Amino acid sequence: MKASPAEMAGKDCVKVAVRVRPFNKRERDAGSVCVVSMASSSVTLQDPRGGPSRCFSFDHVYWSHSGFSREGGRYLAQEPGSRYADQACVFQDLGEGVLQSALQGYNATLLAYGQTGSGKSSTMLGHGPNPGLVPTLCHRLFHSLTQHQESLQSQVFFSMLEIYNEQVVDLLCRGPRAPGGLRVREEQHRGFYVEGLRRVPCDSAVQVEQLMEQGTRARTTAATHTNANSSRSHMLITLQLKQMFSRESITKQSSITLVDLAGSERQRGSSSEADRLKEGTAINLSLTTLGNVISALADVALGRRGVHVPYRDSVLTKLLQAALGGNSRTFMIATLSPADICYEESLSTLRYADRAKRIQNRAVVNESPTERLVKELKVENARLTQRLGRLGQEGKRTEEESKELRRLLRQNELQIRAIQTLWEQNLQEALRDWEQQYASITQERRMMQVHPYILNINEDAQLSGVVKLFILEGDWDVGLSDSSPRCISIRGLGIQQHHAVFSNSQHRVSLTPLPGSKVIINGNSTSQKAELQHLDRLILGSNSTFLFIGYPTERGEEDWSRYDYDYFQSELAAAEGIHLHSQGEPSSVSGQTDPSLLAVFYDYIKLMPMLAEANQMSRELHKEVEFKLEIKNLALSDARGHDLEKDIVVRVTSLKNSQVWLWSKSKFVNRKYLMEELYQQHQAEGGGEVGPVPRERDPFWDPVEPLLLGKAHLWLQSLAFRIALDEQLEVLGSEGTEEAILQAQLIPCSPTGLSLSEEDILIDPSELLGRRLDFQLVLDRCCGLCWLRQSRNRGVQIGFQMFDCVQLFTPAVWHNVNPLLEQRIHFTSLQTSPALLEHLQTNALVLELWGLQEGCVEMAWCLEGVETTPEGSFIIDQASDTPAVCPVDSLQRDLEELRRQNSALRKDNSSLRDQLSKAKHGRRSQAERSSQRSSCEVELGRSLKVFYHSMTSVRALLQGLRRHRPSEDAGLQALRLYVCEQAAQLKVFSEELEHSVAALKQDVAAIVRRKRERSGTWS
Ligand SMILES: Nc1ncnc2c1ncn2[C@@H]1O[C@H](COP(=O)(O)OP(=O)(O)OP(=O)(O)O)[C@@H](O)[C@H]1O
Ligand SMILES: [Mg+2]
Repeated sequence: MKASPAEMAGKDCVKVAVRVRPFNKRERDAGSVCVVSMASSSVTLQDPRGGPSRCFSFDHVYWSHSGFSREGGRYLAQEPGSRYADQACVFQDLGEGVLQSALQGYNATLLAYGQTGSGKSSTMLGHGPNPGLVPTLCHRLFHSLTQHQESLQSQVFFSMLEIYNEQVVDLLCRGPRAPGGLRVREEQHRGFYVEGLRRVPCDSAVQVEQLMEQGTRARTTAATHTNANSSRSHMLITLQLKQMFSRESITKQSSITLVDLAGSERQRGSSSEADRLKEGTAINLSLTTLGNVISALADVALGRRGVHVPYRDSVLTKLLQAALGGNSRTFMIATLSPADICYEESLSTLRYADRAKRIQNRAVVNESPTERLVKELKVENARLTQRLGRLGQEGKRTEEESKELRRLLRQNELQIRAIQTLWEQNLQEALRDWEQQYASITQERRMMQVHPYILNINEDAQLSGVVKLFILEGDWDVGLSDSSPRCISIRGLGIQQHHAVFSNSQHRVSLTPLPGSKVIINGNSTSQKAELQHLDRLILGSNSTFLFIGYPTERGEEDWSRYDYDYFQSELAAAEGIHLHSQGEPSSVSGQTDPSLLAVFYDYIKLMPMLAEANQMSRELHKEVEFKLEIKNLALSDARGHDLEKDIVVRVTSLKNSQVWLWSKSKFVNRKYLMEELYQQHQAEGGGEVGPVPRERDPFWDPVEPLLLGKAHLWLQSLAFRIALDEQLEVLGSEGTEEAILQAQLIPCSPTGLSLSEEDILIDPSELLGRRLDFQLVLDRCCGLCWLRQSRNRGVQIGFQMFDCVQLFTPAVWHNVNPLLEQRIHFTSLQTSPALLEHLQTNALVLELWGLQEGCVEMAWCLEGVETTPEGSFIIDQASDTPAVCPVDSLQRDLEELRRQNSALRKDNSSLRDQLSKAKHGRRSQAERSSQRSSCEVELGRSLKVFYHSMTSVRALLQGLRRHRPSEDAGLQALRLYVCEQAAQLKVFSEELEHSVAALKQDVAAIVRRKRERSGTWS
């Protein structure tokens, strides 16, 4: 991509490209659908919920989703002409653009933007046999420089830094880290720069690669030490290029900045709902500000005046000031996941990229002051020589001037030589350094061929396998301590001074945890000595994950890459009884696992290590709270009995006073950032006693709130028949545990609250339509409250919402395991609507059991807008659909119809009167018939009531069957027992059901028979 003259003279718009990657394992498991399509230079994103598609156009688009094959880990186009865009293809446009710009003397910047896991690092750095833009660019750069060696002297300086939590970390720094990171300073001519950042002179691509490896290693250890996540940090690589063209006497300086940004979803914050504590702002500040800068610059490009561009608001935007709207040719690659589940993120990425392409920069060729001086001196020299020729008589003065000129030129040459010498010295030093490093890498490679070792596994695949710790013959202490030569030093949360011992004897390696230390092997916690096998998975402390590589004789051909971070966490989850199998193994062919369950599973394994870390921080900071993962709604259903959507929640328990909080996952993630900040501050201060943190800023604390303990379902169907119901309801917790038994009644009654008699039972519920319905909900008592058994300083309330009435709560009852509730609430529908009738026939009243704890505010109902009858009952079913406006002609039609019916009825009336007087003898039998009829209805009502009661116990049996599951660690024997029990329960269930239905059939048949016997006319 050669710069056009127009571009060289004027404004350069930021060049933006978009790339879409293949499905990853999670997306394949979830049976994801690709919602991204591309054509020439446009990208179309399809809304999976059926909304309109969005189309965007960019400078380049790269389809890397399909049409490839993998050979030895290399991604190749499946066939010639395939649309698959490989790494080389991406380099051709973007990398080449950056390279040519830099060689021409322009500053150039390349940014990778996209959500976590969308392929930023893969595109920028690459992986294994698929080198990304940065390594290829370095190769091409040095190749080009050596090609022009005779006419060009060049210098390349390499630096690599990371911005995490607004702190700049030098990834090439060899000494101890400055606490709080390096400072960003500003100078008038230089703009913003990082003070004291190590710049290493390089003269080959191999050297740069080695430095990058060193930087990645530093990033890995930083991530484990500070317990940070690399996808929340930005990485900046800078190559400063100086070219001295001896023939033309021109010096050009350019800087290439390559940026792998943090996952973009961080920009919008992790917290979707309000948290008492602000978002861990520093984590997102740089990315949020980058978004603001891009928006402001896009506005400027559209001609808006007086726009403030907030470069100074974050470290990242300070360092990228030139790249955005300044002296740089800038390129951006936005990476996308193809999956439907990432639609929102992909749309946000495309919008961001769309805005970025409007930004206009003003790039100029950079000339150094030395070069300008030489140029100026030469011009001056020529002028003077000319003058010298013209004005011979002023020889003395001219000679003085040319003497001065010669002095200046000499000084200048000396200056250039000094710079040159310094550069050569630096280069020699860097080469020596590099040789040492290279020797250690070579030695490491040799040792890998001979000895067993452990390999770090990181959440970011780029950082996995960077650290190798060898286990030579003998005993090796593992832990924080590095006091003896027989120590393997590991740092990380929850790692003790002396954590465990590796023993290597007679080609066998074993691991012995030391007392009090946490060691997990292949998902199982162990405190005993264990012999390690090749590819065993080790977790030391809270979350330091390693893969054990055995002696070369044990190593086969297997692919180690399957043991990634997810694998470790899935194994751990399985040990806790949470695995994909229990939620339905995804079929390898169709990937039919319920996507919502998969999402819960992946949330679980994502949060699990974070939880271990939060627990460890809580212990070290003496916070006395414990975090535990729960699957919310695992056993709960809605008012219609349908399963509720499952989600992960974090149960936080105070070990001091048993207070309990439930945090949503986003709240927990936000709090974890804040905990990390607190923890790092504590570490930086020497890790001693923790000073008091004001409660309102303490991420481990929250004001106590009522807690939803569980729900019970009171089915409303009996009300449709005006039958009373008296139930012992099981209140189930979200994971299916019995939290309490609740005694509740539904009693149809008169407007004044008197119970109805059996004669009022309805056979056909539709008789209720349009008529007044009164009933009472009676909540008698709660029995066996687990919540109270755990601590007596607690109370409960019951919350419920009857049809369209507001949410109501019973008054709080405290300190009692079996509290009396004694609540009787009267509801009235003045005119039963079809909607209410349908509700009664199909829904349950969901009774929520709320747990109160000391110091929390009790829940109260708000009766605003609630109407009551003169007797004080709550009026429900208010929105019954009586049409408000009736067209006049339809009213007239109705009126005529009524008149017609009226005259017909009058006729009927008079003829009936005649018949009545004629057939006086028939009167008695008539009365009998009507009494027979009413007695039949009562009998049928009674049978129905018996039937509904028996159905209650059938329903309880069914719920029991659904909940009864074998324990995860059940052996064969236990499984057999489970099957027997299940079969027995099933038998009881079907017998009960058959018995109830048979009894009803029998009753109905008997009633019909009796009816026929008494009279054949009943119909
Ligand atoms: N073009 C591609 N071809 C094949 N695989 C890819 C491609 N892009 C990404 N991947 C795979 O997707 C996974 C995630 O990619 P990567 O690590 O580059 O994401 P990222 O955007 O850098 O995420 P993070 O924000 O967490 O750093 C990697 O395992 C990588 O192998
Ligand atoms: Mg990355």
